[in-house]
Formats: sequence, C-alpha cells, structure tokens
Amino acid sequence: MTKICCIGAGYVGGPTMAMIAKKCPDVQVTVVDINEKRIAAWQSDELPIYEPGLDEVVKETLGRNLFFSSDVDQGIRDADIIFVSVNTPTKTFGEGAGYASDLQYWELCARRIKEVSTSDKIIVEKSTLPVRTAEAMERVLHAGDNPVHFEVLSNPEFLAEGTAMADLEHPDRVLIGGHNTATGQQALQTLVEIYATWIPRERVLTANLWSAELSKLTANAFLAQRVSSINAISALCEATEADVGEVARAIGTDSRIGPKFLHASIGFGGSCFKKDILNLVYLCESYGLQEPADYWRQVVIMNEYQEARFVKTMLHNMFNTIAGKRIAIFGFAFKADTGDTRESPAINVCRALAAEHAQIVVSDPQAMENAKLDLPELADQIEFEADPYRAAEGAHAVAILTDWTLYKGLDYQRIYDSMSQPAFLFDGRNMLDHQALFEIGFEVYSIGKGLKTHLK
Ligand SMILES: NC(=O)c1ccc[n+]([C@@H]2O[C@H](COP(=O)([O-])OP(=O)(O)OC[C@H]3O[C@@H](n4cnc5c(N)ncnc54)[C@H](O)[C@@H]3O)[C@@H](O)[C@H]2O)c1
Repeated sequence: MTKICCIGAGYVGGPTMAMIAKKCPDVQVTVVDINEKRIAAWQSDELPIYEPGLDEVVKETLGRNLFFSSDVDQGIRDADIIFVSVNTPTKTFGEGAGYASDLQYWELCARRIKEVSTSDKIIVEKSTLPVRTAEAMERVLHAGDNPVHFEVLSNPEFLAEGTAMADLEHPDRVLIGGHNTATGQQALQTLVEIYATWIPRERVLTANLWSAELSKLTANAFLAQRVSSINAISALCEATEADVGEVARAIGTDSRIGPKFLHASIGFGGSCFKKDILNLVYLCESYGLQEPADYWRQVVIMNEYQEARFVKTMLHNMFNTIAGKRIAIFGFAFKADTGDTRESPAINVCRALAAEHAQIVVSDPQAMENAKLDLPELADQIEFEADPYRAAEGAHAVAILTDWTLYKGLDYQRIYDSMSQPAFLFDGRNMLDHQALFEIGFEVYSIGKGLKTHLK
C-alpha cells in the first residue's frame, strides 16, 4: 500500500489530502502538523477551515485511509511520498523583507525529513515556492553522506478557496514538474498515476521542475493582473459615466479575453495573490530584471489604490466626515464561501474607517473568529455582530466587502428602515440590485458605476 504523508494541515494540505484519500482508497494518507490544535480540529466535528463539501469528504475518509497526526517524525518515516504544504508567507525581516518568500518553514521540513528518513522518498513541493527552490532543497536533503535518496517534484496547487473541493475533484489541470533524469521521471510517473485515478490523463501536465515552480507564481500574477486591470478601468468609468459592468461584458465576450476575473470590486485579497506577486517582483529584481519587476509590482499598487479609493469615496459621499458614525461591514472574509481573512480588503478598509473615527460593526457568516484576531488594536471601535440586520441597526452606512450570496437575499427595506438617514450603501463587490436599493431610498455607491443619490 502506498503511503503518503503531507506536512502542513492548512487550507491546502487538508483539502488536497482529503481528496486523494477519497479517490484512492488503497493509498494511506497521513497529514501531520506541528499545530496540535489544528490537528485535533481536523479530527473533530468542527474542522479548522470552512470549505463547501469538505466535511463530507473528511467524514467519508477519516480513519479509513485519512489520518491526522502531530507526530511529524513518524509520518515522515512511514511515508513513500511526502507532500510539503507548509506556509510560505512574505518575509518580514532582513534581505527581501516585504517581497521575498519566507522559506524557513520549508527548510525546517527538509531538515526534518533528512534527519528521520530511513528509506528513499519522493518529496513533493505543494507549497508555492520561488523558482529553483527545489535546488536548495536537494542540497539540504542530500547534504553529508546520507544513503537515502530523495527525489524532489514540484506539484503546485491551483485550487481556489471557496471552491477547493470542486477544483480538486475536477481540476482544469494538475501540474507536476520533475528532473529529466531516470529517477526524476520515475518519481514523476508515480505521482501522475495517483492523480490519474480520477483526473483524465490529458489534464495531468508534466514539465521540468523550474517550469512547474514558476507556473504557479505566473498563474497567480496573471489572475491578479486581470482584477487590477478591470479595477483601473472602474476608476475611469466613475469619472466618465461609463459603466464598468457594461465594459466588462463587452470585452469579456471577446474570446481572446474571456469573461472570468473581470468583475470590478474593492480588490483581491487572500493569502496568495499579493504574496506571490511580490515574490515574483523579488525574483525578477534578483535576476536584474527591473522592468518586469516594476510591471508586476504595479498590480499590487493598483489593488492598494482600489481599497483606498473605496474608503475615500465613502468619506467623500458621507459629507467628508464619518467620525462617530456607525458603519456596518457586511463580509470580512477575503471572498465568499471561506472563513479565511488573510489579506482581506476588509482589514485595510476597517483600519482606514477607524482612522476616521468611525464606529464599525463587522458581520460575516463564517469569518467572525478570524476577524476578531485580525484587528485587536481596534477593540474600542469595533463591534462584532453575526446577524446582518442587527449590525445595520442605526448605521449610517452599510459596506458590502465580501460577495456572500446571503447578502443578495436580505430584506433591504427592513435594513433601510432601521438605519440612520440618509442611509448609504457602498457595494464593494458590485453584487446587489442597485436600482432596487435606490428605489427603497438608499444612497447607493457601486464600483465603476458611481453614486446614485437622492440628495441633489
Ligand atoms: N490557501 C490557498 O488558497 C493556496 C492555494 C494554492 C497554494 N497555496 C500555497 O500552499 C502553501 C500552504 O498554504 P495554506 O493556505 O495551506 O497555509 P496554512 O498556513 O493554512 O497551513 C500551513 C500549515 O503548515 C504548518 N507548518 C508550518 N511549519 C511546519 C513544520 N515545520 N512542520 C509541520 N507543520 C508545519 C502550519 O502549522 C500550518 O498549519 C503556501 O505555500 C501557499 O502559498 C495556498
């Protein structure tokens, strides 16, 4: 029986391994993590992350061929294949601070693997890593006179939070990079066989190691670049009375452009886009490629501009003062269908509103616990209220910051009636029926469409 160990039981390690366990009942999958609380949560009825469809898959496989453990060494020792899915956040110190990836967790894993392994293993980079990381890993793994052979593969993960289980079950493609050597190709085939259990073979792409590593950063940079591109146009729409929704539809029907990721919004968030683009910028700079670095950096600058512009618009429209005003934030997660708040635009928006002395009420169906941890310094100015109706009571404005479907179905007449007048609604996700809201009596702002106002 093939034994897989995954180091890192996070947003990637948990769902990906649960899917492999479900699809390959003859493979034993053990997910290990140094965070014992997280491991305990994976074994409980309340999983540590929210992801539609995940509970069912974990229920089906847990204890059958899916195991969670905090005994990292044992997991490593027993495995034939080790996925490393630890966090690779942006470095906050020293060389490359603010841009480069912090690789200390990855390297610690490599050292641990080398230390405790007594048999040959395939090591799979699942974390997103700078191109050529595998080279450094191989040096760590093979340092000294270690008789054990490690073959490193790159298998970047393309799932999106909120749709992770569907993405894992029916991926557009799976990418596996390996060395062009006999052992490299053999290891690559082993991993191809596992994915081919449920994924059509033509969707399992193989590449050289460096291409696979670089493809993940490139994919995220391209996706984020589309968001920043349409957001740049949204600002111009507001200045010219063009409608960004109409522009997006007009260009998205061009088959060369396509419709996805053309939805103007408050901007992208999440643990990956910003981190991965900044990493790409750092890589370009470290290879002396200043113009490519500047090109990609602008995608992040544009995203920051869009967040700041949203708050400025709120302030400007609310008579240039929001001091003491109650503002209800609908949605704190960085996107719908996840409780993840890492790099959520809501964090910067709340900070900027608090700097203007607003009284903030945060509401979110899944992200309240994370939200509380994100803004401890604003404890005096923030309330948390899960019920959106109560959050909006007495508020001067509602700001939609996450595209949760439930916000489409709320009784906005009831919300309007309970608010201070004039009641403002700022739709940072362009997801509501703005004309209907306007007819209820709201002052309605939406991105790339401007303000619909009764106050002339
Ligand atoms: N979140 C996403 O949507 C997503 C998508 C694709 C790729 N990625 C990439 O996947 C990687 C993991 O992301 P994530 O969101 O799952 O991170 P995460 O922070 O949710 O999980 C990482 C886990 O690794 C554990 N860990 C760290 N060092 C360890 C060690 N030495 N031994 C054992 N466990 C250790 C941490 O305790 C944590 O639970 C990152 O490189 C990320 O860029 C993330």
